[in-house]
Amino acid sequence: MHGPFRRMSRINQRCQSKKYASTMNPSKRDGFTSKFGVLVATLGSAVGLGNIWKFPSLTGVNGGAGFLLVYLLATLMVGLPLMMAETTLGRAARANAITTFDRLAPRQHGWKLIGWMGFLSALLIMAFYSEVAGWVYAYIFKAMSGEVLTSDPKIAGEIFGALVSNPTSSLIWQWVVLGITGSIIMLGVSKGIEAVTRKLMPVLYILLLVLCARSLTLEGAARGLTFLFSPDFSKITPTVVLTAFGLAFFKLSLGMGTMLTYGSYFREDQNIPATTTRVMLADLSVSLLAGIAIFPAVFAFGFEPAAGPSLVFMTIPAVFTAMPGGIVFMTIFFILTAIASVGAILSLLEVPVAILSERFGMGRKKASTCTILTIALIGAPAALSQGVLAETKLFGMNAFELFDFLSSNVLLPLGGILICLFVGWVYGLPELEKRLSNEGTLDNRGLIRAVFFLVRYVAPLSIAIVLLHGLKVF
Ligand code: TRP
Repeated sequence: MHGPFRRMSRINQRCQSKKYASTMNPSKRDGFTSKFGVLVATLGSAVGLGNIWKFPSLTGVNGGAGFLLVYLLATLMVGLPLMMAETTLGRAARANAITTFDRLAPRQHGWKLIGWMGFLSALLIMAFYSEVAGWVYAYIFKAMSGEVLTSDPKIAGEIFGALVSNPTSSLIWQWVVLGITGSIIMLGVSKGIEAVTRKLMPVLYILLLVLCARSLTLEGAARGLTFLFSPDFSKITPTVVLTAFGLAFFKLSLGMGTMLTYGSYFREDQNIPATTTRVMLADLSVSLLAGIAIFPAVFAFGFEPAAGPSLVFMTIPAVFTAMPGGIVFMTIFFILTAIASVGAILSLLEVPVAILSERFGMGRKKASTCTILTIALIGAPAALSQGVLAETKLFGMNAFELFDFLSSNVLLPLGGILICLFVGWVYGLPELEKRLSNEGTLDNRGLIRAVFFLVRYVAPLSIAIVLLHGLKVF
């Protein structure tokens, strides 16, 4: 028997064991139903809180267009190739993040660790991501009621402080987020993830364009655009470069099996290089539009651009208050941000849910409930870390910071490196070529070779540098 056939028979043998029973018949496995469905669901994962404040504020703080250029380079050299690699592995194995490595490397058990790390990172990221999303949900109502109508960022800061330090409201808003996204994930891949992102992504674009139109027609808007787009190459330091690489990684949901799991739901005739490139471009457009919606307004009303939560929860309310029609546009802004978070959260939840249901034979409902309850449990210290548990620290970090550090700075880059090494040195070029060209039906050999080179050498080395920097080794 030759290569592919030998592999198939190996897979068949494994399928006969009980552990794999639930994924035994691929036709029974849930998945995305159309090419558009694949596109919106994958884009839904990439688009998230990362676009709304991380991207614009990092771009602003790190030298505008210069940072943008480095970020684009990082996306093309590391992000996009890795995204192609991850989705290919998933589609080839048609399984969750752990079983995928069982199937593609049946004799090398160590690679499964990648899937287990993904399982853990998904829970850790969700523990704090759900909390930030909870604040956003709360702000929809605060904006609507006019409670945060203040042009003084200091007072806005006090309102924010009161929300996040209150244990009851912190926990309840986190549970609201978990309840909503949990009930979507229970519905499954096609009826849950695909159906919901299909409706939400167009709404997200429309709201974003409305905000851009408002922001750009303000007097003094041009300064914001200059801030965002005029290059200042003197500001490109090694730290800036590393930040750009980290962002490229986080933006495309890489390094923890999210894209691998989504790839396992891709259609057989999906053109992976084309789809992933479209997702990358669409995600970039959301980031740029978010920057265009935010910075002209920030400058028009004489505020200072700030990074992180203070931009979203303090500066933004003040900016919108100063603007005609402020309540409406502020409400739109927070609804938009909440929508962006939903698709990203669904993709984070899908990693453990797929593992629990396929490897442990749990039904979809039970797997979703277990995942949500676990996140509520480990998320509670993160939710309380801005108030009652603020001084409870480990390695000098509170729970929120610790979960963020462990996932973003350790587990994601480590997972990314291991996936690159697996594809570049174990899976190999012939198999990658076969999969990325849809068994030779697509004419993209040159592209695949370039992707293979990047995944084998360039990506693992550059991610290793980012990892060591994140661990403060240098
Ligand atoms: N990409 C999302 C954002 O920009 C976050 C996200 C979703 C993510 N799934 C992920 C990040 C998996 C890392 C890994 O907000």
